[in-house]
Amino acid sequence: MMTRIVRTAYLGLLVLATGCDGWTTPSGPPASIDAELRQSLNRWGTVPIGPTPAQPPALVDLGQALMFDKVLSGNRDIACATCHNPVTNAGDGLALAIGTGGSGLGPSRTLGPGPQFIPRNAPTLLNTGLGAPYLFWDGRVSNLGFGGGGGGGGAFQTPAGNQLPAGLPTLLAAQAMFPVMNRAEMRGTPGDHDRFGNPNELAEFADTDFVGLWQAVTRRLLAIPEYVTKFNNAFPGTPTSALGFQHAATAIAAFETQALTRTDSPFDRYLQHDDAALTAEQKRGALLFFGNRAKCASCHGGPLLGGQTFSNAGVPQLGPGVGTGAPLDFGRGELFNQDFYRFAFRAMPLRNVELTAPYMHDGTFADLEAVLKHYNDVPKALREYDSSQLPPALQQMYHGDDATISTMLTNLDGRLRQPLGLTDVEISELVAFLKSLTDPSARDLTSLIPARVPSGLPVQE
Ligand code: HEC
Ligand code: HEC
Repeated sequence: MMTRIVRTAYLGLLVLATGCDGWTTPSGPPASIDAELRQSLNRWGTVPIGPTPAQPPALVDLGQALMFDKVLSGNRDIACATCHNPVTNAGDGLALAIGTGGSGLGPSRTLGPGPQFIPRNAPTLLNTGLGAPYLFWDGRVSNLGFGGGGGGGGAFQTPAGNQLPAGLPTLLAAQAMFPVMNRAEMRGTPGDHDRFGNPNELAEFADTDFVGLWQAVTRRLLAIPEYVTKFNNAFPGTPTSALGFQHAATAIAAFETQALTRTDSPFDRYLQHDDAALTAEQKRGALLFFGNRAKCASCHGGPLLGGQTFSNAGVPQLGPGVGTGAPLDFGRGELFNQDFYRFAFRAMPLRNVELTAPYMHDGTFADLEAVLKHYNDVPKALREYDSSQLPPALQQMYHGDDATISTMLTNLDGRLRQPLGLTDVEISELVAFLKSLTDPSARDLTSLIPARVPSGLPVQE
């Protein structure tokens, strides 16, 4: 809430500033590229991000341990940080993530003998603490400011409905309740045995028994004395007997917010009125981004440069698929079973995007140039998508048949139906602008990797 208020206040300031700075005259054109750019930024509500409140150190310490500890997974073989790893900028560098049973880290991680690919790309956790109203590619965890599910869930809408416990402070904390429930990512299948050959008790809970599973994970954690100490330090007012997985999730979110908020990019300094923070090329790219030629800001606008809306951007379909749509992934359309949202995914916020290839909900584009070439003529790019650019294990999971492509184009977002007509130079300018969104401190996050975790399980394997 606090950050919202701060942001609104910033917006007010900026609007005021535009009125009296003399950047524009009512009749004439803007005086300079900076004046023109600042006018477009203002139009899309792209204002500076306020400071993130510091998180309590004991909470962050517990959250860091949990993030890297494989004890949270049914088979004790995968941690949050396996897919959201500091070495790969809090993502995994893969097109589609690989869950329990897989081995290795980063782009060279491989599937185990049984398991499938996770149907979607693992987004970076960078800046997930900034308070976007939705999380996940389909926004299935959201904070739309009205009560969720009647029970304990408070203000959040999540797949757990009224089983979501009360007391989760942020949407990011609510999100952290769910990876442990996901069989392919962390939980495993009934009958699985963990890395030591012991039965995987977490896999035995029904998919609807959120409460039972969360209690079982908490029992695992509290069987480790070092965790009891860390929880007690992080929640001094809460007796050990009253601790639940919501406390673990709260700590994970505190770590994500404290360690992974990176908003000191050249663009952020430009937003704070340092005209020299961007190069001339980046400014030309920004004018395209925020202008009518490339229309990027109409979906990637606001302070976060995205995160608030869903669109069918005509991204090639890849992977095992999700739910009733399988082998396709209808994205938000699967969630609501609505044609309107078919193939719509969240327009991800773009800060630090340079560091988190491959791109899109299924990682079908290897670099930013490929993303821009796609946007430049979406129908053509979708029809001509070359799946040989994908890793061999994924090539046969590309769904490029005529029927799929025609249905996708039927409800392609209206803004992307006509070619943009960007030249190669303009594409480079847009890429240069996207690179101005990188906070240099986000390039190397490896100092966040702990030497060990309380369970004693290996950390970076
Ligand atoms: C097997 C790999 C894997 C593991 C393990 C994993 N995640 Fe993820 N994570 C993903 C994928 C894939 C998505 C996107 C899923 C979707 O949108 O449907 C995701 C999405 C997220 C998001 C939403 C980001 C956004 O911008 O929308 C957050 C936050 C997150 N994960 C945190 C965690 C935490 C915390 C854990 C551990 C408790 C964890 N993840 C474990 C793969 C993984
Ligand atoms: C109609 C809305 C819309 C417009 C216009 C738009 N985008 Fe997007 N953008 C999206 C959506 C939706 C996604 C996710 C699509 C998916 O994964 O299927 C996305 C994803 C991206 C990604 C990948 C993010 C990631 O983390 O993987 C980048 C980069 C990007 N857009 C840049 C741009 C640029 C640059 C422009 C202007 C040329 C632009 N976008 C125009 C909606 C839009």
